[in-house]
Amino acid sequence: MATHAAYDAGTTATEVAAAFADQIKGRNVVVTGISPASIGYTTVMAIAAHGPANLILASRTQAKLDAVTADIRKAHPEVTVHQVSLDLADVNSVRKAAASVAAVVDRVDVLINNAGISTPERLSAKAPNGTEVDGQFLTNHLGVFLWTALLLPLLRTAAASRPARVVNLTSQGHHLSPVRFSDYAFRQGLYNVPADEKPRDGLPPFFVKTIDGYPGFLGYGQSKTANILHATELARRLKASAHPEDSQISVFSVHPGTIETELSRSLDAEGQETIAKTAPKGLWKTQDQGAATTLVAAFDPALKEADVAGGAVVGYLSDCQLRDDMVAEHAKGADKAKRLWTESEKLLQFTVDL
Ligand SMILES: NC(=O)c1ccc[n+]([C@@H]2O[C@H](COP(=O)([O-])OP(=O)(O)OC[C@H]3O[C@@H](n4cnc5c(N)ncnc54)[C@H](OP(=O)(O)O)[C@@H]3O)[C@@H](O)[C@H]2O)c1
Repeated sequence: MATHAAYDAGTTATEVAAAFADQIKGRNVVVTGISPASIGYTTVMAIAAHGPANLILASRTQAKLDAVTADIRKAHPEVTVHQVSLDLADVNSVRKAAASVAAVVDRVDVLINNAGISTPERLSAKAPNGTEVDGQFLTNHLGVFLWTALLLPLLRTAAASRPARVVNLTSQGHHLSPVRFSDYAFRQGLYNVPADEKPRDGLPPFFVKTIDGYPGFLGYGQSKTANILHATELARRLKASAHPEDSQISVFSVHPGTIETELSRSLDAEGQETIAKTAPKGLWKTQDQGAATTLVAAFDPALKEADVAGGAVVGYLSDCQLRDDMVAEHAKGADKAKRLWTESEKLLQFTVDL
């Protein structure tokens, strides 16, 4: 149970940050993807208002990092802000960025994996082991997986004295597609995969529309399913870890709602219209409402993960409440979560110290 049962789709990040101000004060918080007009921007502005010790902004476009840093320094000159250049689609950049975080802080109390892309066009990419993967999977999952693993020592140091958190931004769009372990890059045709990797039955045609054989929404859905499975297996491993402080690191996944941001920048009119229909009763959340669920996941001390050892979903929040009932079957299950972890390590040629 979250602390505030009355929080809902209309609750704002400003309100949540004020309610959990004592959880923000003095903490080191890392947020990825903080560009102006994004959910990340509203997230960091709300956090900055309550005295974090260090606020670390990790994003890929320097001019946007500069603009947001200036906004925070203007509104909250007392806050120490650090910039980290991070391109989640580039493993070398992820490694450098994690080292940059370690150069400015010795602990991370809260890691908010907010950055993400949604694109209708194929972004073909190679994982470090040479396998072709979808660019959305590389950015939204593999990059996040590696980045989180590299920041683990700093989370561990924080957790030795106070509980720490990892929050993965996923989406209700995860319902569109399971992880396609046999075809990460959507090269085999949409349905020519094992039954448990096929897109959901009965999807409206727009969601299965392809450009040059690539279904952008399904690619996004695959990556957002991976965000939930990653969170689930991370939580399980932390609880089973030989490092005693690891059990003090909790992990949650968040669907923020439907919010007008730059995420749909590359969609055509039909795509924009389709996304608009995903907003309940056609109502889009404001930016401030859109960041509220992230802040509950990051700072509400009453939140408890599910018992992932028993195969449950880690703790999925929507409209500021735990809503594991809203998770698709294909994003549930200890076996799938473990499989994704092992496969991600193989693709990245990297073994997580956990
Ligand atoms: N908006 C919605 O309705 C909605 C719904 C469900 C889930 N979400 C999730 O919420 C999160 C935030 O989305 P948003 O709506 O705020 O989107 P947005 O406005 O497009 O912001 C995304 C952020 O991620 C950054 N980013 C993109 N690719 C990156 C990369 N390769 N490396 C590092 N940073 C990168 C962007 O940086 P640049 O600006 O420099 O490209 C930007 O700061 C995403 O994970 C998204 O899947 C959003």
